[in-house]
Amino acid sequence: MSFPIDQIRARTPGCHDKIFVNSAGASLVSSSLIEISKKYLDQEADIGGYDVMANHYDAFSEFYKEAANLIGAKARNMAFAISATDAYSKVLYSFDWKPSDVILTTKDDYVSNIISFIHIHRRYGTSIEFVDTTEQGDIDYDDLRIKLDRFQPTLFALTHIPTSAGTIHDAERAGAICAESDCYYLLDACQSIGQIEVNVEKIQCDFLTVTGRKFLRGPRGTGFLYVSDQILDQNMGPLCIDLAGSVWNEETSFEFGPEAKRFEYWEKNYSNFFGLTQAIREINEIGIREIERYNTTLSQYYRSALTEIEGLKIYDHGSRKGNIITWKIAGYSQQEIAEYFSKHRVFYSFSNKSSALYDMNRKGEEWVVRFSPHYFNTMEEGDRLQEIIAGLPKK
Ligand SMILES: Cc1ncc(COP(=O)(O)O)c(C=O)c1O
Repeated sequence: MSFPIDQIRARTPGCHDKIFVNSAGASLVSSSLIEISKKYLDQEADIGGYDVMANHYDAFSEFYKEAANLIGAKARNMAFAISATDAYSKVLYSFDWKPSDVILTTKDDYVSNIISFIHIHRRYGTSIEFVDTTEQGDIDYDDLRIKLDRFQPTLFALTHIPTSAGTIHDAERAGAICAESDCYYLLDACQSIGQIEVNVEKIQCDFLTVTGRKFLRGPRGTGFLYVSDQILDQNMGPLCIDLAGSVWNEETSFEFGPEAKRFEYWEKNYSNFFGLTQAIREINEIGIREIERYNTTLSQYYRSALTEIEGLKIYDHGSRKGNIITWKIAGYSQQEIAEYFSKHRVFYSFSNKSSALYDMNRKGEEWVVRFSPHYFNTMEEGDRLQEIIAGLPKK
């Protein structure tokens, strides 16, 4: 069966009057998501949040089922979050950090993750160590093995697809290596879920975090967390908790509930919660493998279209590349690019040094343009982008 691009575009109201290539920032939501979220808000306006919530109790479980289905987990392993960072922080502050602990990561890890590691280092004396990358930009898996052995880290933290480069790190290979040690494995899948197939059984991670608004095409202010059975059985839970996943069983005592919901707070924006459920449902209906296949063709097409433009340099690295394409043409300022694209109704973003310090130092740039096409984009849009960029006023 061919990929249902026409149907997908028909259900994506934002994609028709512009070229939208910013799914790594915040993607376009579908019309059915908008309908579901709006309807929920309308009902809240009519009868108040508690009664609407009570009317929807039976539908809550669908979020956990759909999210679990997407990543090969069980509903009990899933927690709703309000952002990837919310989920990530809950994980980091589940550990009782000590000066003797080591966090092992890579220089491709997301800015807020690295800031949190530094914060933990300052507060608890915990050390941070980095796994080397190869010339090509892949993780040096031999070095991972060596450092797991040398530092005996408590946690290995990997960002599956870095925010400022197209690299798709081999999370499965890293997981197989981690599984030989006692180290916990936290995968930041913020840019990969919804873009490519991600399966927690194969990856063998203990925790996985994602935001809703990027390649999942969910509403802003949403995300989710996966917590493995092993972690749940070890009774690990976050520092900041409430009644959503914990039971106050005695006046001076409480117990964590058996499920990953212990990582959630009770209060939620249900219009967003059901919006995210719908976004994940749509991806499951199309099939993440089909989406990945389409996305692979799409990003290869866009990369080669951009490569043909005189003077344009692509900065992505790694042996497997996904739908984040970073590039620049020397001589143009960020403002000139922004004004030109605004005139041509191209929606994209910049990656700036402050959001990827190690990577931008490696690239030797203060900023690059970031295109992130997704499965509602077409090859024709890739051609059009090529034409638009080639038409930049000559310097
Ligand atoms: C790789 C990666 N991780 C985490 C995040 C943070 O996501 P959120 O803003 O939902 O916390 C981002 C956002 O750009 C990201 O690219």
